[in-house]
Amino acid sequence: MHSDIGIIGLGVMGKSLAMNMLNHEFKVSGYNRSFSSVQELIDKGYDQFYGFNDLVSFIDSLKSPKIVMLMVPAGEPVDQMIKKILPMLSKGDIIMDGGNSFFRDSERRSVALSHEGIYFYAVGVSGGEKGALLGPSIMPSGDKAIYPIVGKILETIAAKKDGEACCRYIGKLGSGHYVKMVHNGIEYADMQLIAESVLLLKAAGYDNDHISDLIASWNQGPIKSYLLDITVNILKEKEDDHHLVDKILDVSSHKGTGKWTSLQALEQDVNVSLIQAAFMARLMSNQASLRAAFSNDSLPKITIDPKLIHQAYKLGKLIAYAQGFALYQDASDQYGYDLDLEAIATIFRAGCIIQSELLEELRLVFKDEPHIENILLADRFKSWIIDNLDALRTVGSVAVNSGIPTPIYLEAATYLNQSHAFSLGANIIQAQRDYFGAHTFKRIDVEGSYHHEWE
Ligand SMILES: NC(=O)c1ccc[n+]([C@@H]2O[C@H](COP(=O)([O-])OP(=O)(O)OC[C@H]3O[C@@H](n4cnc5c(N)ncnc54)[C@H](OP(=O)(O)O)[C@@H]3O)[C@@H](O)[C@H]2O)c1
Repeated sequence: MHSDIGIIGLGVMGKSLAMNMLNHEFKVSGYNRSFSSVQELIDKGYDQFYGFNDLVSFIDSLKSPKIVMLMVPAGEPVDQMIKKILPMLSKGDIIMDGGNSFFRDSERRSVALSHEGIYFYAVGVSGGEKGALLGPSIMPSGDKAIYPIVGKILETIAAKKDGEACCRYIGKLGSGHYVKMVHNGIEYADMQLIAESVLLLKAAGYDNDHISDLIASWNQGPIKSYLLDITVNILKEKEDDHHLVDKILDVSSHKGTGKWTSLQALEQDVNVSLIQAAFMARLMSNQASLRAAFSNDSLPKITIDPKLIHQAYKLGKLIAYAQGFALYQDASDQYGYDLDLEAIATIFRAGCIIQSELLEELRLVFKDEPHIENILLADRFKSWIIDNLDALRTVGSVAVNSGIPTPIYLEAATYLNQSHAFSLGANIIQAQRDYFGAHTFKRIDVEGSYHHEWE
């Protein structure tokens, strides 16, 4: 049989990716810890799928160089599985990890496996179950010399936009997982912006159907996106004549990538306040005791023109993407990842959860200025900021004054207020630092660093 690729872990993503590959005429072998998932795929009747319940026969079924793709949960399961299959592989074989692994773990695995003569590919995959089946956005990283071998499969199954595959070689080591991690951070921020917009529209007296229509009307031009698309549907969905969304508990969970992005940004000294606000908002939704003690009985009422919320969303979204891409730019230099930001914007245009027309705008910015520090500096976005800043400030202040929690809108307004400010009060901070710790300060009138005897 000699399959082109073997997939370990036939859960939600593994199964869909396997079917995507089979639909593209690749021969696929499958292994899963519990056989029922393998059987499910066998039952679908694909001629070129071979299911196994033991790892030795599974590995034996692959053609050389053997390509094994892991689609198991991040962390221990990945290390355990690598340990199990390593003795069955030969020099030159390839292990790909398509899960949401932490990029530092991927770097460690990449280095360790290179000592064994095995290539390791860290492969970010975005698009959820449907994307994996119909065409995800794929971010592969590892040894560039073997990219043609893995790229042939990955580019074939990836989403296509304007005839281009939404899969590009990202860079060395774990950079593919780094890019996927920050992608998810941006996803957290955009989701939170939409959630807060819905909350504000509810407080302004609109019902689910009306809000769905309003969001559908926003969903065009440069902010047209998958996340707005699904929100339009979510708000309309009914169960027994009631909107399902109103029956969903007001508590959100997470699987770690937003937290990793937040921590990583602190590590790099890059401000991703919107991503952090989105993550903190999820944590806050789980603060059961505080919420039980202080919760109001109903949503406050506000008077606000929905057009202002639309404008605020537009600007908030731009800032969220700007912060995420600023993190990429920094990692590109700091970690020597040498990321091609135009390529990243290109592969995010379809297939992934943050796919949006905005990515095409970003692609054009990076095409002209590959090393731009922050996309908010691009001429292309000048009027986007100027035209919507007042609306963003108004939305933030109306929400605060009415007690409606909109942390991400406030962070968005703060980020721009800080950027536009005449002063940030940082001179006071430096004076205090010098006062108690002799940390010195710079002056506006003379070059150099100075310490003052304050007492
Ligand atoms: N779901 C998404 O939208 C999405 C999108 C992008 C990336 N990802 C990432 O893709 C990876 C897989 O996610 P998924 O959604 O497909 O998860 P899933 O549906 O829960 O499937 C997990 C698979 O891994 C297997 N597995 C779990 N623990 C294992 C272990 N200790 N040893 C061996 N096999 C083990 C499971 O086997 P059993 O059937 O025996 O339990 C199952 O086949 C994760 O890293 C996830 O973060 C998910």
